[in-house]
Amino acid sequence: MRIYYYSATGNSLYAAKTIADGISGCEVVPMSSQKQKATLRESSNTVGFVFPLHYFGLPLFVSECVKRLDFSEIKYIFAVVLSPLVCVAVG
Ligand SMILES: Cc1cc2nc3c(=O)[nH]c(=O)nc-3n(C[C@H](O)[C@H](O)[C@H](O)COP(=O)(O)O)c2cc1C
Repeated sequence: MRIYYYSATGNSLYAAKTIADGISGCEVVPMSSQKQKATLRESSNTVGFVFPLHYFGLPLFVSECVKRLDFSEIKYIFAVVLSPLVCVAVG
């Protein structure tokens, strides 16, 4: 399992690491490390995305990263969206 995170001030990184700590073999990967790759081929069965709410939507950087991901091998996807008001998790 792999968790991609995007974090400006560290909250989403903390959340991603906390989730990964409870799951054996879970890798935490910054979305920024993927920006050079034209298409991301993801071979993990389960992939998570953890990122902050920006202007009541996805940060542009996150939507661009997700659009480049090849979902064909992924069985389960979840997202955790952080804001000072709420934390939303969708699977
Ligand atoms: C540019 C920007 C836009 C934001 N827009 C929203 C928003 O629309 N609604 C909200 O509740 N929080 C908003 N926030 C607050 C972040 O969602 C919140 O601080 C989050 O915990 C930051 O996560 P991070 O530390 O992983 O970057 C915004 C923060 C930034 C920097």
